[in-house]
Amino acid sequence: MHPDSRKSSEEGLLARSRSGAPLGARTAVYPGSFDPITKGHVEIIQRALRLFDRVIVAIGQHPTKKGYFPIEERQQLIDACIADYPRAESAFFKGLMVNFCLDVGARAIIRGLRPMGDFEPEYQMGLANRDIAPNIETVFLIPRPTQQFISSSLIREIAHHGGQFERYVPKPVAEAMRARLAAKR
Ligand code: COA
Repeated sequence: MHPDSRKSSEEGLLARSRSGAPLGARTAVYPGSFDPITKGHVEIIQRALRLFDRVIVAIGQHPTKKGYFPIEERQQLIDACIADYPRAESAFFKGLMVNFCLDVGARAIIRGLRPMGDFEPEYQMGLANRDIAPNIETVFLIPRPTQQFISSSLIREIAHHGGQFERYVPKPVAEAMRARLAAKR
């Protein structure tokens, strides 16, 4: 073997993404507002981990949403909810999600697809993302039927009106929401 060809193949094996993760690892980004993370999101993370080696739960900035929990607290809550999944991690990104995917060497974007109006906007976003970054696939996962009607704002609304929201969110989120509600009273 020519010494130069060995050198380049070793470099190939050692190739790393800009974040330092090995490029061979199948990484997916699960972006969202996660304000806060719900049991529905956790279910999607668990299922994404069956398909990918590494799943980055990434908080993005929605152009119009005001934000209930500060970003740092949302990330802490995500970390508490994924503590049992060593191949999952959390992050926060600014700008386009596809650029974040390129930065971390991800090959896929995970999106949950629910029947209540998700399809058209998700389809449009999937097409736009593919146009911008053709090598990144969007993978849609269908949530369990019992989780399909949940959304973060719906849970916040139930909590705000004194309803029982606890069954829709992991324990650390329920505690954080109770603390938030108590502070507002
Ligand atoms: N279980 C429970 N709820 C779920 C869910 C699930 N499996 N999947 C989605 N939801 C809910 C969320 O809680 C959220 O509820 P809310 O509207 O009450 O807050 C809602 O569905 C929307 O989901 P989410 O996946 O969080 O998307 P988003 O529209 O809030 O934000 C960003 C997505 C932030 C990632 C996106 O706007 C973004 O990346 N922006 C950056 C710019 C960019 O790249 N845009 C795309 C250009 S093509």
